[in-house]
Amino acid sequence: MSKTIKKIGVLTSGGDSPGMNAAIRSVVRTCAYHNIECIGIYRGYQGMIEGDFKEMGPRSVNNIINKGGTILKSARSKEFMTEEGRKKAHSNLSAAGVEALVVIGGDGSFTGGLVFNKEYDFPIIGIPGTIDNDIYGTTHTLGYDTALNTVVEVIDKIRDTASSHNRLFFVEVMGRDAGHIALNAGIGAGAEEILIPEEDLGLDRLLESLRKSKLSGKSSSIVVIAEGDKIGKNVFELKDYVEENMPEYDVRVSVLGHMQRGGAPSCFDRVLASRLGVKAVESILDGKSNYMVGLLNDKIELTPLEQAIKGHSQIDRELLRVSDIMTT
Ligand code: F6P
Repeated sequence: MSKTIKKIGVLTSGGDSPGMNAAIRSVVRTCAYHNIECIGIYRGYQGMIEGDFKEMGPRSVNNIINKGGTILKSARSKEFMTEEGRKKAHSNLSAAGVEALVVIGGDGSFTGGLVFNKEYDFPIIGIPGTIDNDIYGTTHTLGYDTALNTVVEVIDKIRDTASSHNRLFFVEVMGRDAGHIALNAGIGAGAEEILIPEEDLGLDRLLESLRKSKLSGKSSSIVVIAEGDKIGKNVFELKDYVEENMPEYDVRVSVLGHMQRGGAPSCFDRVLASRLGVKAVESILDGKSNYMVGLLNDKIELTPLEQAIKGHSQIDRELLRVSDIMTT
């Protein structure tokens, strides 16, 4: 392991996700383990521009493995999209002696990192942190597993009311461009139908499916919808549409919103964060740059950042079939 780098910066950027703190802890402690300094950068790239830095030793990350959110705070920086902003950020990093960066975030954060790297030849390693699981090069992003568990727990509660009142519930879950949460939590919570951005189910098929379920003797149903689904109507319009066409149904809507992004990370996310943080720091020490660390076949592997950004994480189509069979 070549150890020419003596100081690494770590930041969280974009939407927060459970497990980000566990990843910060891992980066800080891996640096300490290899006797290099670690600098925490507050509020993502905005804090880099403003020089909002803090030295982080292994004891500075005590008692955060179990915490949701991010102690370093997060932001989406417009200024970092400008050359001037990136110049300020670079001069602050140089003044602080930071020689490489670990960026914990989603594809927007990686895109910013890549531009910065191209301009200043600054070593960057990405850790995928978003509940949406929409990043290529990892089967799981940080926070995704926790979000799934949160959604399933909440839908279980909604099911109590659905079945007590013979109601149909439309439950909207997060996923602007990706249906991973909807598809997996939908199956886990026993949803009747799952609407995702990757697949245009069509309104007719939805009605047909609801009619079939009614005929088969079901008196209540749960339909899970990803916020970015392509059916062409938002969840409230869908409710109106179904009520107009199927007056026999008493329909309610639940939009789960940001509760899905908070809370203590699951054990899976804590372990994943710990593994990703170790690999991120050790990759920098190995002289690597412009890679994302991710989980593939239960191993932590490197994927070029460019590929992680451009490649699309595919949904598992077999899950669609499983969902169909489960609603028989
Ligand atoms: O973290 C990703 C995500 O959860 C998306 O699914 C959602 O559309 C978005 O964040 C909302 O984020 P914000 O409210 O921070 O803009």
